[in-house]
Amino acid sequence: MMRHIRVPTKSVESTLEILKKFGWLNRRMRIISSEAENFRLIPLDSNAPIHLPPELSSFEIIEDEGLLENRMNTDWLDYLLEQINESEFEEYRDYWPNSHEFIGDMMVVRIDEAISKFTEKIAIAKLKSHQHIRLILNDNGVKGEYRIRDLAPIGHRKGKNIHTKNLESKINTKVIVKESGQEIICDPTKAYFSTKLQTERLETLSLAKELKIILKRPISICDPFCGVGPALAPLLREENLVDSLLACDFNPNAVNFLFENLTKWDKRKYPNFPKGISKVYQDRIIGHADATKLAQDPELLGIWDLLILNIPHRALEFLPKLTPLLRKDSPTLIRGRIIVPESEILSTNKRLNKILPNKLYGFDKPSLKVKRDYSSSLRLCSFHAWLKISNQ
Ligand SMILES: C[S@@+](CC[C@H](N)C(=O)[O-])C[C@H]1O[C@@H](n2cnc3c(N)ncnc32)[C@H](O)[C@@H]1O
Repeated sequence: MMRHIRVPTKSVESTLEILKKFGWLNRRMRIISSEAENFRLIPLDSNAPIHLPPELSSFEIIEDEGLLENRMNTDWLDYLLEQINESEFEEYRDYWPNSHEFIGDMMVVRIDEAISKFTEKIAIAKLKSHQHIRLILNDNGVKGEYRIRDLAPIGHRKGKNIHTKNLESKINTKVIVKESGQEIICDPTKAYFSTKLQTERLETLSLAKELKIILKRPISICDPFCGVGPALAPLLREENLVDSLLACDFNPNAVNFLFENLTKWDKRKYPNFPKGISKVYQDRIIGHADATKLAQDPELLGIWDLLILNIPHRALEFLPKLTPLLRKDSPTLIRGRIIVPESEILSTNKRLNKILPNKLYGFDKPSLKVKRDYSSSLRLCSFHAWLKISNQ
């Protein structure tokens, strides 16, 4: 049981103001309706005194089990509640964007249409509650072949001030993200990048190490949809894991960042603008290319041990165009991501096994592992396939 102060609905605002001022509001619990009509129960913090000040002393104190505020990160909501009234807050309770993604010193949120009129207020509240964040962007989804997120700046901290108007042109969205001990340079408004794939990247690393053990030598890696190169960061960090590398993307901006990143990760100089794909070093084929055409170059055929296929919307379509790049004389591995309707997971597994029939002896057939919901009917899955192509 927990102490609640029972106040008429019309006094909720003024009571909250007083409770917040003294730190007596219990933010872990929700404001709930009272059995008495037109009254609400406001949860009191344990440090609230037994005898409340005169402004509140006329209200009754009720012991109630209360309701846990488990859906909310309450810090930013305090700042939101400074700008909107309690009834607006309650009306849109299910829409406030509690989750967010940090990309360097930027924060990405998704603001539902239903609360778009509060966008500026949300930006201010989030920036006030996250003092290390410089810029907040509203995520309108991933667009086009480059899979770039449509990110609209909605709030910007400059010195001690927060700006929410006329932001578009002047703001820097190029940031450095720290991940698994590496720094990744990216600009999510210019090239695809997601911090949410970190676990995926670490799984790829552990599979790559397994392949190295099987082959008893460093491995050659082909990442033809590499973006700014985040999957390569942990692989290149691992001593003696990577032998030769092919990395390309057909978004020139992504390749620019890739060159910058490789200069750091590979500890040697890379060009600072994307031309085509070229042998930047004897063991590094890097650049701007259409991955689906790589297999037209005979020099690239049959030489890669690990193929990374991060093109979830078109994985099945592109897979047959890329398998000729894999070695035929030793075990190989494909690591991919794919988006499929929930109802088609089984049939997609069958298709996958039809495209990749040369399973490595002693290993399981490739099969999709659901990672998360992409929409109400679509699932984002990953898979890996251990192959030995020569045994066909
Ligand atoms: C989902 S993103 C993955 C990027 C990167 N692998 C990562 O994990 O951040 C897919 C990438 O494929 C690139 N892309 C799409 N079609 C391509 C093609 N035909 N050839 C090369 N790159 C392509 C896009 O520009 C985008 O950067």
